Amino acid sequence: MIGTLVFVLAFLAIGLSVVLAAMRSGRPPAGSRPETRGTRRAWGLGIALVVLVVGVGVPLLILVSNGEDHAKQGAGGVDLNASQTTGRQLFAEKCATCHTLAGSNAVGRVGPNLDTLNGGDLKPAFVLDAIEHGRARGAGQMPAGLLYGADAKDVANYVATVAGR
Ligand code: HEC
Repeated sequence: MIGTLVFVLAFLAIGLSVVLAAMRSGRPPAGSRPETRGTRRAWGLGIALVVLVVGVGVPLLILVSNGEDHAKQGAGGVDLNASQTTGRQLFAEKCATCHTLAGSNAVGRVGPNLDTLNGGDLKPAFVLDAIEHGRARGAGQMPAGLLYGADAKDVANYVATVAGR
């Protein structure tokens, strides 16, 4: 939304500066004082600045803010903390191939759907236990120790937060 607005404003600014530049380049009306070299320089500099800010700064700003937004956005507009953001990345690498989880756009079908498992109410300890020990209760194989330590905790934390949303 804001990105679109900024873009529209940016193009308006470019358009305006071009129009102004075009108007200025016409012959000055008879009798008026010719522009000094100084004012012409100032105009050129000003326009160059506008073009630079709009052409480079604005796209950069949008890129940066977009990237952050997407990384931190869980499902259903949940904001993720640093641990959960790491967990989200690790989930994509280690778990998404086998599990469905809307928060990660994961659609794996080897293991249970984590959004509907236990009604979507998963506790971090439960997920952590599955990661540590693996599962083989007849519904397929999940290897033990896919992740360890802080990584395992981050993923458990993340899954518990977004599952069922
Ligand atoms: C190779 C496929 C595969 C991968 C990779 C995988 N899982 Fe699983 N997962 C399974 C299967 C299959 C089951 C069900 C096994 C059973 O119950 O027999 C399962 C079960 C689970 C369960 C439910 C445990 C229970 O007691 O009901 C959770 C939670 C889970 N996985 C989380 C994860 C997380 C988190 C990751 C990433 C670290 C992951 N899985 C990676 C296949 C996988």
